[in-house]
Amino acid sequence: MAEIIDGKKVAAEVIEKVKRQTTELVSSGTRPGLAVVIVGEDPASQVYVASKSKMAKECGFHSVQHSLEADTSEEKLVALVEELNSDPAIHGILVQLPLPDRIDAGRIIQTIAPEKDVDGFHFINVGKLGTGETETAFVPCTPTGCMLLIERVRGKDLSGLNAVVIGRSNIVGKPMANLLLAANATVTIAHSRTKNLAEIARNADILVAAVGRPEMVRGDWVKPGATVIDVGVNRIPAPERGEGKTRLVGDVAFTEAEKIAGAITPVPGGVGPMTIAMLMANTLRSAAQSVGRKSPEL
Ligand code: GUN
Repeated sequence: MAEIIDGKKVAAEVIEKVKRQTTELVSSGTRPGLAVVIVGEDPASQVYVASKSKMAKECGFHSVQHSLEADTSEEKLVALVEELNSDPAIHGILVQLPLPDRIDAGRIIQTIAPEKDVDGFHFINVGKLGTGETETAFVPCTPTGCMLLIERVRGKDLSGLNAVVIGRSNIVGKPMANLLLAANATVTIAHSRTKNLAEIARNADILVAAVGRPEMVRGDWVKPGATVIDVGVNRIPAPERGEGKTRLVGDVAFTEAEKIAGAITPVPGGVGPMTIAMLMANTLRSAAQSVGRKSPEL
């Protein structure tokens, strides 16, 4: 049976370090500030945003949340981001995605000042990651969190290991592949148009599933001993729990995969808590950098 990678525990360790270093930074006169912006009433996004704002407060940050009506204009959102860009009390700006279809999400993301882009979605940060400038890039929170979990199992240097990332999104798949490459893994990106997906997955010493399809990765897709990182969060009907009930599952069929894998993240309690922890870490780093201090150790 696989080792279950406890994302809650690792995230709590990161948060402890963030809190300690925030206290130090505050005593030198700088309080990290995070602004979270949400447009509309998507219930899942509301939950994510509320937990980001709450954790920011717990870390001792200045935490502000802007909740805008679903019919907010693109111009108004651009104006808000520009105002946050020039607010010295704000070091991190996060605009929760997805945005309503009418709004050009790309334009909004590129309006965020790269040095406050704690999501790591701005072209400057994407380009830095792609060229290996990982010391100064803001890297998206979910893949960074996945890397910390992988590091716990495999160490920092992944030389000689095959990594397969299933999913090619800008938020997870692509930055994940770049981080694995920066750690010397041999990386394959697979996706919905890939032929022989199971066969490719079976070649992975490190398998990252980020497709958003409930339990798509079956046990026989997993190489014996592999490290399996499940980024998926899918809500599916759970009639066994009662009428109308649901439960969360990942992109990996956990009970099958845990019999084969060497280590595996559960859903919930795996990657999820890491995402928020890394957002706090990125915000702390942005605040430290804004006053010429070096990046905090994590
Ligand atoms: N929506 C889902 N994941 C994310 C994320 O990491 N950042 C933002 N801004 N929106 C998201």
